[in-house]
Formats: sequence, structure tokens, C-alpha cells
Amino acid sequence: MEVFIALLCVAVVLWLAWRWKQTSVFKKLGIPGPEPNLIFGNILELYEKGPIKCHEEWVKKYGRVLGYYYGMKPVLLITDPYLLKDIFIKDFNKFINRETFSPIHRYNPKNPHSQSVLNLPGQAWKDVRSILTPTFTVAKMKQMAGSINSSVDNMLDVLQARAQKGEEFEIFDTYQRLTMDVITKTAFGIQTNVQKDPKSSLLRATKLFFVTNYKDPIVLVALVFPLFRRLCIRLQEFIAMLMNNGKFPHKMLVGGIKKVIQLRRTNPEAKKNDLLQLMLDSSIVVDATETDVSKLEAGNTEVEKLEAEKKETTDKKIRKMTEAEIQASAFVVLLAGYETTSTALAFTTYLLSKHQAVQENLYQEIKELIERGQKLEYASINKLPYLDKVLNESLRMYPPVHL
Ligand code: HEM
Repeated sequence: MEVFIALLCVAVVLWLAWRWKQTSVFKKLGIPGPEPNLIFGNILELYEKGPIKCHEEWVKKYGRVLGYYYGMKPVLLITDPYLLKDIFIKDFNKFINRETFSPIHRYNPKNPHSQSVLNLPGQAWKDVRSILTPTFTVAKMKQMAGSINSSVDNMLDVLQARAQKGEEFEIFDTYQRLTMDVITKTAFGIQTNVQKDPKSSLLRATKLFFVTNYKDPIVLVALVFPLFRRLCIRLQEFIAMLMNNGKFPHKMLVGGIKKVIQLRRTNPEAKKNDLLQLMLDSSIVVDATETDVSKLEAGNTEVEKLEAEKKETTDKKIRKMTEAEIQASAFVVLLAGYETTSTALAFTTYLLSKHQAVQENLYQEIKELIERGQKLEYASINKLPYLDKVLNESLRMYPPVHL
């Protein structure tokens, strides 16, 4: 018994020493920040005050660059705009990798689900990103406009029917259905009835990925005790399965994507001019990927030039997207395309309802465009400066994504 107690004491001391080492990273580097707790890091303060207020207080106290611990995870918080510019642009090649979507997942080169454009590290990210970027050139966006317009017309039908009944409804849900409709059509060439089907299983499964609560006890356990991380992930998946009528949402959505891929591969007539096809037909000249990363920005016409250059180069090594990269990236596009835009639209609508004068100005700008005999389409809406300001301000006030 005494031996057991002695061993237990040694184990506890070693464990505490390990945690002390983990939570001393910033001190060793001379980076200021709030004093971490040996068990929780700084997570309790974050939970108590909320991340935004907490960050504000820490920045006031410790300066524009500080370090804190999200459980056992060291986080470097940078709020100096010049330093951020260096990280995102000038020195981007040193900061190419990003954090995983969920704070408790980690990139795993052996896991096929990790192989999306959102998670891939270094050169693999650059390769896949170079393949995807041409989807968002101005020419491609114009091609998609017809599909987007027909989805918006469907949404207007739904809104009209509700207005006639004088019903109250949740605008966020309406926008989620709209963006799901748009992304499935423009990225995967699939027609769904998501806008009109109140029980859409596609929407139910996708929504589950965004049921987030920063105080989620499962996430807390995984962050504070990394040993239980995998167990916590399994538990999260199990709960999501229960909420999705007994089907694992990830498996269900990736299963749907796999079926579309299979159809495209086996039936040449199913071929479409969309993002999925671009990935399936992908080939990239690996040497040519040593490009300026800023050229990978969506809507950048430079990309079209790069494409032309790529076609001329035939003697270099060609790299295709792997099956895992295609499936995982298609899944990410489905999630990213749906959630961000619907959140942005919902907040913009909320702000317009709160600021009637702004709504009136915007209405007048659009009305004048139509009175000049122009249609509301990709080219013309890009020439509405007030609309641009409204959207930018809404994104500034309520960003749908934080980095
Ligand atoms: C208002 C709408 C949107 C917002 C606010 C938004 C925001 C963001 C942000 C902040 C990032 C991370 C950038 C970084 O780490 O440097 C990102 C990445 C990404 N977004 Fe969006 N996004 C929006 C719409 C979309 C749409 C419609 C799609 C797909 C059709 C999409 C697909 C992606 C993808 C694939 C990435 C990863 C890109 C990469 O790793 O190269 N996003 N988005």
C-alpha cells in the first residue's frame, strides 16, 4: 500500500512538473500574459468573462502581443496591425499553416478527413489551393450567377408566401437554406429541395457542425486534459449522431459527396463546369506553384494568367489532387460556403432593420440601378458603392469567422 501511495505521489509530481513546463512556454520566451493556472491554463477567465472582453482586458494590461493558455494549448494573441500584416502577407511563407476548425482536433497526415484545403500544411496546401482558386475568377463567378439568381428567386417565393400569411419566421434559417441551395448547385451541380423542405436531412446534418458553445464541457475536458482528447472527439461524434436520427453527420455528408464523385467518374454526361469537376480534372504543375500567395486570392484575374502559363508548361511534374483531398475539400466547401454567407446575410438584415435610414438609402441605390434599365446581376451589383459599404460594415461589426 505504501509503495502504491509513493508511486502515486511521484506520478502526480511528474504530471504537475510536465504541466508547469507546458504553461511556461511564454515566460521562457519573454512574452507577457496572464498567469496560467496549472490545471486550467487561462480558460476559466475566458469562460467567465467571454473571449472578447477577456482579450480586450488582457491587451490593455499586457500590450498588443501576449500569450495565454487555452487549457494546455498556448495561444499567441497579436493585435498589432503592422505585425499582422507581416504575418499574413510579407512573411506568410513562415505562417502558412492554420489551426484546425475545431479546437480539439489536430491535423493528422494519415487521416483522410484531415486532407482538406483548410487543414493541409505547407506545399500540399499551396497545390490544392492553386487548383481551387480558378473556381472564383470573375469569369467563373459570372457563369454561376444564373444558378444563384434562380435560388434567390426560390427564396423570394418562400418569403412572399410567408408575408401573405403574416407569419413570423427566423431569417437565419431562410438564409441557411438559400446558401445551401446555392453551394450544392454551384459547387456540386446537385439540385436539392432544401429551400422548401422543412425537414431537409441535408440541412439538419450540416447545421450540427455549427452547434458550438465555447463553454462546451466536452471541449473543456479535451483542452484541459489532452490525454482524453480522442475520447472527447468520439463523444462529440456520438452526440451528433443521436441528434441526427442515428446517422453520423460527417459520414452521411461525405457519403453523399462520394456518390456524386462516383457518378461523375462513371458517367461522362454527368460532367459539369463546377468546383467539383475542377478538382476531379485537376492537375497542377508543381514547380509553377512557387507563386506569390497573394495571387491565390479569390476573384483575382492573375489566376487566369497563371492557368494559361500552366497549360504552356508541359515538361514539369504534374500533381493531381488525391481522393482524400478531393473528398475532404468538397466537404469543407460545403460547410464554408453555407455557414459564413448565411451568417453575414442574417446580420446584415438585422442591421438594416435596426437602421431604417440606411435601409432606405440602399433601397434607393438599387431602385436607381433598375430605373436606369439595368438588371441586378453579377457585373451591376459590383458597381453599387453603398451596398458595398453596407456589407463591409456588417462584416466588420459581426464577422462570421474569426482567425
Ligand atoms: C461572408 C462570407 C465568408 C466569410 C466571412 C469567409 C471567411 C473566411 C476566412 C476568415 C477564412 C480563413 C482565411 C485565412 O485563414 O487566411 C476562409 C477560408 C476559406 N473559405 Fe471562406 N468565407 C466566406 C465565404 C466562403 C464561401 C462562399 C466559400 C466557398 C464557396 C468559402 C470557402 C473557404 C475555403 C475553402 C477556405 C480555405 C481557403 C484556404 O485554405 O486557402 N468561404 N473564409
